[in-house]
Amino acid sequence: MSSLRFLIILLVLATNYFSRITTDAASSLPTLSKRRMNLNGVHLKFGAIHMPPFDVLTLRPDGNYTHTGSGIVVYSWLAAKLNFTFSYYFVPNAMTKAKYGNISEISTILNLMDDKVIDASAMGMIATPVRKKLVDLVYVIWTESFVMVVPVPGEEPRLFAFILPFQSTVWLLILITVITMVAIMSLFSKFYLKFFAKIIAGRNKLDPIPPRKETLFRLIINYAIYIINIMTNQGGSVALGVAITRLSFRVLVGVWLLIATVLVNSYSGTVISYLTVPKMKPPINTFDDLIASEDIGLVLLADTDAKTGPLKVLGDQMRSKPDRIVSNVPKLYKKLETEHFAFPFQKTFCQNFVSNDFKKDGKCRFKLTDPINVFGLWSLPLQKDSKYSSMFNIALMELWEAGIPSFSVKNAMPRADKCFAKTKPQASSRQIPIQLDDLMGAFFILGIGLSLAMFAFIVEIITEIKEIRRRCNNKNTIPKK
Ligand SMILES: *[C@@H]1O[C@H](CO)[C@@H](O)[C@H](O)[C@H]1NC(C)=O
Ligand SMILES: *[C@@H]1O[C@H](CO)[C@@H](O)[C@H](O)[C@H]1NC(C)=O
Ligand SMILES: *[C@@H]1O[C@H](CO)[C@@H](O)[C@H](O)[C@H]1NC(C)=O
Repeated sequence: MSSLRFLIILLVLATNYFSRITTDAASSLPTLSKRRMNLNGVHLKFGAIHMPPFDVLTLRPDGNYTHTGSGIVVYSWLAAKLNFTFSYYFVPNAMTKAKYGNISEISTILNLMDDKVIDASAMGMIATPVRKKLVDLVYVIWTESFVMVVPVPGEEPRLFAFILPFQSTVWLLILITVITMVAIMSLFSKFYLKFFAKIIAGRNKLDPIPPRKETLFRLIINYAIYIINIMTNQGGSVALGVAITRLSFRVLVGVWLLIATVLVNSYSGTVISYLTVPKMKPPINTFDDLIASEDIGLVLLADTDAKTGPLKVLGDQMRSKPDRIVSNVPKLYKKLETEHFAFPFQKTFCQNFVSNDFKKDGKCRFKLTDPINVFGLWSLPLQKDSKYSSMFNIALMELWEAGIPSFSVKNAMPRADKCFAKTKPQASSRQIPIQLDDLMGAFFILGIGLSLAMFAFIVEIITEIKEIRRRCNNKNTIPKK
């Protein structure tokens, strides 16, 4: 019992000792860095450009800008941490333009820092050898993968949707079938009229109508109308009485009715869904899709990543089309809003564009692609060889530990969850035309039927051969009525 009490006392002592060591270590670190991490109320100027949602500049009537965005939260936190005050220098103004000319806003910022007009850039920059030479790029201020913002694909025109239920080869075969049917029916009838009409009339008065002078042309017109009537489900009957008494003709018409049933029903069964279900143009999700697309082009923001940095290769290919590389964000927005361009950049920026556009009229006109295998690290640029660099380095690490960047960006962005909902791939519900293979059976039966009709026709000729021969010989001697 006493040994147990002794053990407990020992344990309590030990934990006390260890906790004292750890608290000493922890408290000694801030006191050490607190003295070093103090800018003693120095005033810093941050160059700011319009880069939503980080810095949102709105031009006021008086020529100044209203400034909002997530960046203010971040720099206010840093200012409190490092004991400095700060103000913004808005880059897009007449003075800087007159001084530096027609260059992109990022280049203007680099120039301003080189000329010691501003101390830092509010917008982070991706490190490149050229920028490293001009400015100090301290710790990461933003990091994200690249996506593309693309217009939501529109609908395919449905003007000719009614031909979609059949493959084009099916339509071709139907046309050939119709012509063949009319031709064979007309030829059979011409033959019946010439050689069998009188026989039947003479033998058992089956044909009440006296055989008129049916020209081949009249027969063709009649049968074409009949075939079309059947195909359009209007019904109809064979006008020529003598024809329908022959077995060969009955086989021919019978097999035609059979195939017409298959064709007409398979067409009318699916045509409604083709007419009513909108078919979307193929969506753009990768660079390959973009290359394949005819009406969507690529647009890049000058100097952020086009001349150097992660999208350099793309930028080099774009240099032949200077109108596709824009110098600032407002121009980029104007280009994107035409719905003819895709733009690759950090996800937050793209997401903000989609949400902003949604806010205007509640329509998702744009969407984001999947990440495109490019990852960006945006560092905080300070003047070259700035004496504050190491302090900002540590402060920025603590900023990330506190989760300030992602939290402030999330708060600064308008919501449009509807536009970012993942839609399931619609491969299963996609309509495909009825293939030739699907209808091969019907055409096969038509083929058999045609052969059968031909066979019956020949048998009929053979069985009546004597009569035919007699009529051929006496043709000219028979007096007309
Ligand atoms: C910030 O700097 C000012 C000016 O040097 C100083 O008076 C003040 O005590 C500093 N504040 C802190 C919290 O260190
Ligand atoms: C413009 O507005 C900022 C604050 O948004 C202010 O600090 C600055 O003094 C203003 N400049 C002019 C010329 O009014
Ligand atoms: C400056 O930019 C404008 C519009 O982007 C363009 O029309 C003009 O030609 C450019 N000027 C020079 C000197 O590059």
